[in-house]
Amino acid sequence: MADKKIIAVFGATGAQGGGLARAIIADPEQRFSVRAVTRDASSAKARELSRLGAEVVVADIDDEQSIQRALHGTYGAFFITFFWDHLSPERETAEARSFAVAARASDVEHAIWSTLEDSRRWVPLSDDRMPTLQGKYKVPHMDGKGEADRLFSDLGVPTTFLLTSFYWESLIHFGLGPKPGADGQPVFVWPMGDKKAPGIASEDIGRCALGVFKQGPALIGKTIGIAGEHLTGAQMAETFTKVLGREVRHEVVTPRAFRALRFPGAASLGNMFQFQRDFEDYCCAARSVAS
Ligand SMILES: NC(=O)c1ccc[n+]([C@@H]2O[C@H](COP(=O)([O-])OP(=O)(O)OC[C@H]3O[C@@H](n4cnc5c(N)ncnc54)[C@H](OP(=O)(O)O)[C@@H]3O)[C@@H](O)[C@H]2O)c1
Repeated sequence: MADKKIIAVFGATGAQGGGLARAIIADPEQRFSVRAVTRDASSAKARELSRLGAEVVVADIDDEQSIQRALHGTYGAFFITFFWDHLSPERETAEARSFAVAARASDVEHAIWSTLEDSRRWVPLSDDRMPTLQGKYKVPHMDGKGEADRLFSDLGVPTTFLLTSFYWESLIHFGLGPKPGADGQPVFVWPMGDKKAPGIASEDIGRCALGVFKQGPALIGKTIGIAGEHLTGAQMAETFTKVLGREVRHEVVTPRAFRALRFPGAASLGNMFQFQRDFEDYCCAARSVAS
C-alpha cells in the first residue's frame, strides 16, 4: 500500500486523535495511512495502534524539531493541543505556532487544526458579564486555540479549522453527570438554563476529521463546525432517565455557581457554559447538525 497518503495524527493515543486514527484504519476506501504520534511508543495505547496497523512515531508537541521529524513525508496532519494537561492557553498558542512552522517546513498539503472559538470576539475583556481569567482570557481553554487560528493562515499552511464540540464523555471525565440529591434522587445540574449546547461523541470527531481529509482541497481555509446533537439540560436529563431507568431531575445553576465549584478549570468551564448560553444561536448554527 505504498501509494497511500500518510496522515500524521497528534494525540493519537487520546480521544480526538484516537478516533481519527481508528477511522482511517477502518476506512473501506483505504485512502490514507496513519502515522500515530505519541510521547511513548511502548504504552499500551500506542502498541494497540501499532497492532491495528498504524505507524507509531515519537514526538512531543513542545519540541518543534520532533514535530518536524514526525511530519517528514506526510500528506496531511491532524494538530491538537492538550489544555487540560496544563491549563495554559499561552502554551497552546506556542504549540500551535510550532505545528504551523513545522507544517510549512515539511510542505504538509492538508492540515486540520482542532480549534474552538476565541470567545473574546463575542465577549471582549471589558465586558464584565463574566470574569476575565488568567489576566487576558474569558474562556482560556477556547481562547488560546481560537487565537492560534491565524498562525496557520499567516504562515500559509493549507489548513481546515475543525470547530469541535463538548464531548458527551466529559460528563463522566469532568464529573458532570447526575449525582444523588439530598433526597437520594439523581440530579443533573447544568448551567445552561433552557438553552441548547452542541455536543458530540469524541470518537465522531475523528470520523469527521477523516471526512475533511477525504474532501481535501475544497475545505482548505474553511472552518467546519461539528456536533452530534444540540441538547438542553432538560433533554439530557430525559435521556439519563431513559438510560438509567430511574428519574433524573434537571436542576439549573448559574454559570457563576458553576465557576465556584472546587476543581481545576471550573472557572474556564463556567465561562464556556455562559458563552454557549448567551450565544446559543451562534454556537449551534456554527455546528449545524442538519447536514
Ligand atoms: N473534553 C471536551 O469536551 C473537549 C471538547 C472540545 C475540545 N476539547 C479539547 O481537546 C483537547 C484534548 O484532546 P483529547 O481529549 O483528544 O486529549 P486526550 O484524550 O487527553 O489525549 C491526549 C493525548 O495526547 C498526548 N499528549 C499529551 N501531551 C503531549 C505532548 N506534549 N506531546 C505529544 N503528545 C501529547 C497523550 O499521548 P501520549 O501520552 O501517548 O504522548 C494523550 O494520550 C483539549 O485541548 C481540549 O480543550 C475537549
